[in-house]
Amino acid sequence: MAAIQFAQPMVLKYAVDHHFMTGDMAGFGGLLALFLLLIGLQFAVGYGQSFLNAILGQKVIHDLRANLFAHLLSLDAAFFDRHASGRLTNRLSNDSEAISQMIGAGLIHLIGDLLLLIAIITGMVLLSPPLTLIIALLMPLLILATLLIARRLRVSQREGRLLQSRMASLLTEEIDGRNVVLLCQRQQRNIEQFDQLNRGYLDASLISNFYEALQVSLVEAVSVVMIVLLFWYGAFLTGTDDGGSVTIGVLVAFIDYIRRLFLPIRDLSGKFTTMQAAMTALERIFELLDTPATIHDGPHTRPETVAMVRHGALSLRGIRFGYGQNLVLHDIHLDIRAGERVALVGPTGAGKSTLIALLNRTYEVTQGEILIDGIAISALPLERLRRVIGVVQQETYLFAGTIADNISLYDATIAPQRIRWALEQVGAMEFIDTLPNGIHTQLAERGNNLSSGQRQLLGIARAFAFDPLILVMDEATSSVDSASERLIQQAIDRLLQQRTALIIAHRLSTILDADRIVVLSRGKLIEQGTHEQLLQQEGLYAKLFQLQFG
Ligand SMILES: Nc1ncnc2c1ncn2[C@@H]1O[C@H](COP(=O)(O)OP(=O)(O)O)[C@@H](O)[C@H]1O
Ligand SMILES: [Mg+2]
Repeated sequence: MAAIQFAQPMVLKYAVDHHFMTGDMAGFGGLLALFLLLIGLQFAVGYGQSFLNAILGQKVIHDLRANLFAHLLSLDAAFFDRHASGRLTNRLSNDSEAISQMIGAGLIHLIGDLLLLIAIITGMVLLSPPLTLIIALLMPLLILATLLIARRLRVSQREGRLLQSRMASLLTEEIDGRNVVLLCQRQQRNIEQFDQLNRGYLDASLISNFYEALQVSLVEAVSVVMIVLLFWYGAFLTGTDDGGSVTIGVLVAFIDYIRRLFLPIRDLSGKFTTMQAAMTALERIFELLDTPATIHDGPHTRPETVAMVRHGALSLRGIRFGYGQNLVLHDIHLDIRAGERVALVGPTGAGKSTLIALLNRTYEVTQGEILIDGIAISALPLERLRRVIGVVQQETYLFAGTIADNISLYDATIAPQRIRWALEQVGAMEFIDTLPNGIHTQLAERGNNLSSGQRQLLGIARAFAFDPLILVMDEATSSVDSASERLIQQAIDRLLQQRTALIIAHRLSTILDADRIVVLSRGKLIEQGTHEQLLQQEGLYAKLFQLQFG
């Protein structure tokens, strides 16, 4: 492209000096053909360049996103505790977009622009060094002005982007927290808040537009001044000894070169903005990609242990754990026989959910060891561990997809009959049969088109479908009416039969049905035994029991 841009004014000069000025048209046809060929080439090369750039940028963004997404999925729960999901979404969308822009429009254009500048200046020097000098005098002024404006432009554009992301997060919050917003009558305040951001964005955009317009006009003004200087100095030179070299053709070619000069200069200054945005984006993305996954299979994994885990005896030996510096669990010792049902009770914040999260290595113990049938869970392949331990959470998270997909979680080894069987076991078929497409009914995001009791039933059906050796459960009672509660209770009872179970229990019946009750307080196991034994101890359990059930 640089070569073509170099050649065109030269052809023009030749045409003016050798044909137009002399009136000798012999060979003009050939020159015209050459000029047309150059124009055709310019089109083809320019098209190819833009297209290849775009492909390159898109492919890079594609690979980057795929890597980022896969990497995010490999990271552990502790990582997501530290990073807001909105920010992570931004990495995947905006940051990778910025990088694609840098590659598509930036990096290669940067090289192209530099080559073009060199070609144009070479052309000018070849035609007339004195005229080039005159132009060169104005160049620093132009570059300085362009750079200054580019900096202002950058500041207002950054401000605009910031406000834009704030508006987006306000909107997300508004949608997610719709009910709370209505409840607290926060609409007016939110509208005002949004208005403020929106107005700020308008201001920032107007300032950006102002500088952009200024840049264009300034470049045009300087180019006119350059052309005037060119004519003046050209006329002056014709009167001197050196005058013979400055022909009309040279002036025409110079004007053409000047016209071509500004695009690369303006682009180059604009590129700095793109580059800088891309650099910060790049930094953030690589910081993410460089975050190692801490919980994964590795050299310590022993595949032969898969077959050794058969009964589901669970043993916790000296477990300590803290999310940060402070320990949440202290020195927990607990042995659960295969098939035993243990209820875990304790005040809010005691560490019950935390204890459960350690069992399938959602978090890694800080100290101590957890064993299943005598095998350390750290030696068991993760995939197997998470099959052996089934977790029914307080809130069942459902994905947008069919009911069947939400039960099998796209696991091909779980046949449709098994899905149906699991749903029957929990008594969910009753309501599913009333749905238009049965188990193939589409669920909304998070299963929002079901009641919380129905969602909970699906969560329990999931556990049935996967048939884990050990079941851990964060038992929820709060969000369910008493009719569904009975249904859920029955479903749970059926699920627990013949299975090792550790249940965070709130319901009296679950507690009474347990083989053993363990009491957790401030991260320590302080009491354990049967209901009667614990009542007789008159300790924390007796107190909790009095408070809750009279
Ligand atoms: N993801 C987390 N990051 C940091 N601290 C947490 C996290 N989850 C729970 N905690 C803290 O750990 C303690 C125990 O919490 P949790 O196990 O949820 O209690 P429980 O289930 O018994 O009510 C609490 O003090 C809580 O603030
Ligand atoms: Mg909890």
